[in-house]
Amino acid sequence: MKLAVFASGSGSNFQAIVDAAQEGRLNAEISLLVCDKPDAYAVQRAEDVDIPVFAFKPKEYPDKAAFESVIVKELESAEVDLVILAGYMRLIGKTLLAAYEGRILNIHPSLLPAFPGKDAIGQAWEAAVKVTGVTVHLVDEGMDTGPIISQEAVAIKQTDSLQSVTKAVQAIEHRLYPDTIQSFIEKQRLEGSQVGNDYQTSV
Ligand code: GRF
Repeated sequence: MKLAVFASGSGSNFQAIVDAAQEGRLNAEISLLVCDKPDAYAVQRAEDVDIPVFAFKPKEYPDKAAFESVIVKELESAEVDLVILAGYMRLIGKTLLAAYEGRILNIHPSLLPAFPGKDAIGQAWEAAVKVTGVTVHLVDEGMDTGPIISQEAVAIKQTDSLQSVTKAVQAIEHRLYPDTIQSFIEKQRLEGSQVGNDYQTSV
């Protein structure tokens, strides 16, 4: 199973996925990093472990369909089976969705459908909720919508700070995402079905 990870920033989730694959906890090959910010630290991380990178500047293309067509070509030439969004700060458009329907996963640092969009941990902190968490879901055309695959909760205690909650959420992300990708791959293999099909039809 070949994966492409999409990131826009520090790439700590990308790193967690790479580490899990290297340690045999994730039975997949990380074939490509796609990054819409050529200066992002995620690019450096990929170069450090010799993972091919497709980095691009969206502004250099006329529209989303144009750069997504190029991305699809890159994914197809790397024979990518599954697309893993890990801090990719853009909505996925029709071109990519059509090419990888039911085969695009995203991680979000809240218990969706609560706190979609940017700064989900900050949103939860401001709302003074007692529990937040992490969600992995299949991607559709919406912002942090799509069928939920896994979730894990984090309790927010009186003694917590925004920093300590952020740290706890990130620690869960780095374990939950590789584990969920592995279970997702195994489930598809067992059922011999098309990747992602089951989640799409069961909701
Ligand atoms: C993570 O919190 C992820 O859930 C969100 O963006 C952040 C990316 O962090 N979608 P990193 O680049 O993986 O360190």
